[in-house]
Amino acid sequence: IAIEDEVPQEWRNNVLSKLPREKGWGEPYLYQYQGFWYQAFLFHNVLRCQKHFQAQNTDLIVASTPKSGTTWLKSLAFALLYRKSYPPNDNQHPLLSKNSHDLVPFLELDIDFDNPRPDHLSFYSSPRLFSSHLPYQSMPKSVKESSCKLIYICRNPKDAFISLWHYTNKLRAPEMGTLPIEEAFDKFCRGVSLIGPFWDHVLGYWQESLKMPDKILFLKYEEIKERSNTHVKRIAEFYGCPFLDEEEASGVVDEIVKLCSFNNLSNLEVNKSGKDWSGMAFNVLFRRGETQDWKRYLTPDMVDKLDRITEEKFHGSGLML
Ligand code: A3P
Repeated sequence: IAIEDEVPQEWRNNVLSKLPREKGWGEPYLYQYQGFWYQAFLFHNVLRCQKHFQAQNTDLIVASTPKSGTTWLKSLAFALLYRKSYPPNDNQHPLLSKNSHDLVPFLELDIDFDNPRPDHLSFYSSPRLFSSHLPYQSMPKSVKESSCKLIYICRNPKDAFISLWHYTNKLRAPEMGTLPIEEAFDKFCRGVSLIGPFWDHVLGYWQESLKMPDKILFLKYEEIKERSNTHVKRIAEFYGCPFLDEEEASGVVDEIVKLCSFNNLSNLEVNKSGKDWSGMAFNVLFRRGETQDWKRYLTPDMVDKLDRITEEKFHGSGLML
């Protein structure tokens, strides 16, 4: 809410007030832009990013809907892309003292294009690595027109919903109390969630990945969890920096997987007690890191409803989550 207040009043009156809005999950309102819902401050940044971000052909962008495993994929991508400069078994590895959000900036959230932050190591490295929650439809033109590559991570909608509900409750101002799960569920099903509708976001990337498999690698949280080594190798091959036989033989892939594991990252001091630029504690990004945690929270009716929406939305697309 403090960040929401930083949005200039004049812009609020002239731009924001013209958009459809709905009551938010913790923030006062979510605003609809190009079919997706944003907080005011985020939308303000989205416009800036669409205008100013210049993709380079060698850029790699990790894309996702919130709570689908962004922090994890950013860590894996950082560790594998820069493994020569930062060997994953080095006890000075940047991921041991910094959260991946402080190493890999979000295009639409934390790049000051005139004055990039020095700790965003991936901004200054070659190739550059970024992340984004933007739907493909709303990506800056240069991302679509350049040969930069994207890796998308999606997650089962029931787990993504439960993760988002918990996350929201941790970030809500204490005087607001807990957001009842029924209220959150109704909003999620109607698509009114952070950069939702969830299904439209996922489908946008899925369809583009079918058309342009060399540009977009579409991954699932559950599959990375199941076979982490295979997917780390897939990402490296997709980007064009495959692991050498010697690297595999010496255990580099295993070391990357171990470095980025939920157990390892969530127990680091930086992730237990550190905060990001907005004051958000990093520990809210690490909850359980499991699949099917929804079983502990959703009623049979909720499960039926979410499954039905998912079937309807993905019907004919070939995508199953
Ligand atoms: P849960 O709330 O289900 O535990 P995001 O990074 O997109 O915000 O996603 C957060 C979700 O990813 C949370 O899910 C979090 O616990 C999980 N997560 C964070 N780090 C992880 C890791 N290294 N491995 C697996 N899951 C991780």
